[in-house]
Amino acid sequence: MTALITGASRGIGRAIALEFAKSGYNVAINYANSEVSAKDTAKECGEFGVLAFAYKADVSDFDACKEMVAKVEQDLGPVEVLVNNAGINIDNLLIRMSQEQFDKVYFANLKSVYNMSRQVVPGMMKRRRGRIINISSVAGLYGNVGQTNYAATKAGIVGFTKSLAKEVGARGITVNAIAPGFIETDMTDRLSDNIKEIARSKITLGRFGKAEDIAKAAMFLASDGASYITGHTLEVSGGISL
Ligand SMILES: NC(=O)c1ccc[n+]([C@@H]2O[C@H](COP(=O)([O-])OP(=O)(O)OC[C@H]3O[C@@H](n4cnc5c(N)ncnc54)[C@H](O)[C@@H]3O)[C@@H](O)[C@H]2O)c1
Repeated sequence: MTALITGASRGIGRAIALEFAKSGYNVAINYANSEVSAKDTAKECGEFGVLAFAYKADVSDFDACKEMVAKVEQDLGPVEVLVNNAGINIDNLLIRMSQEQFDKVYFANLKSVYNMSRQVVPGMMKRRRGRIINISSVAGLYGNVGQTNYAATKAGIVGFTKSLAKEVGARGITVNAIAPGFIETDMTDRLSDNIKEIARSKITLGRFGKAEDIAKAAMFLASDGASYITGHTLEVSGGISL
């Protein structure tokens, strides 16, 4: 079985790749620029005795996704699990946000989910099995100051997930999303201590999450135990919204 994880050279994507490798999946590790880290992740995944390779592609580019999926399927066989994890944030208040800042985030976070799903769903429909797991965010569920672009894409993922789930459910394919809260990765490292403290004060469990917390949720959604769950967005946030 093969799982393709986008943006998997570091952070949450890397943790997901390792979790799937540990569970016996061959893994395709997509990356945009960091070849060294992506190959490092592939090497670590390979230590679980599975096939693991790194594939360069900018997921905001439809043709690049098409080429990558063709290569992955040549090397590792059909993609049975697609995890749309790649994402960026370029925060700014709306009154200062440029079109470029909005569009870049839209293409990387939401158009990419279409770009990748569009490549794998036809095969999954033919084989009458498959799992798609999209990484959204609590920002898409509750909003965040300075993140109109980011939150819109993450809310868009929730609607995309529900709609695609309805389209392909009868073919044995499930489509779900995960909405992480505040997870310790490069994306959150660059926030100021003050913002981190404000965020921590809102978390019911009183601590930030780890990339592995999201990886375990993704593994669950891919497992047989989740075969009757589709169109769902699973919040993994330590209770940030309570
Ligand atoms: N860290 C958090 O607190 C948090 C919270 C909610 C949601 N998320 C989401 O989780 C996902 C992973 O985030 P992370 O925290 O690991 O961040 P990260 O910045 O450490 O990792 C994101 C990865 O995506 C890759 N990427 C970005 N644009 C790409 C593109 N166009 N093509 C290919 N790869 C691309 C990056 O190179 C990087 O490897 C993102 O979708 C993010 O929005 C993170």
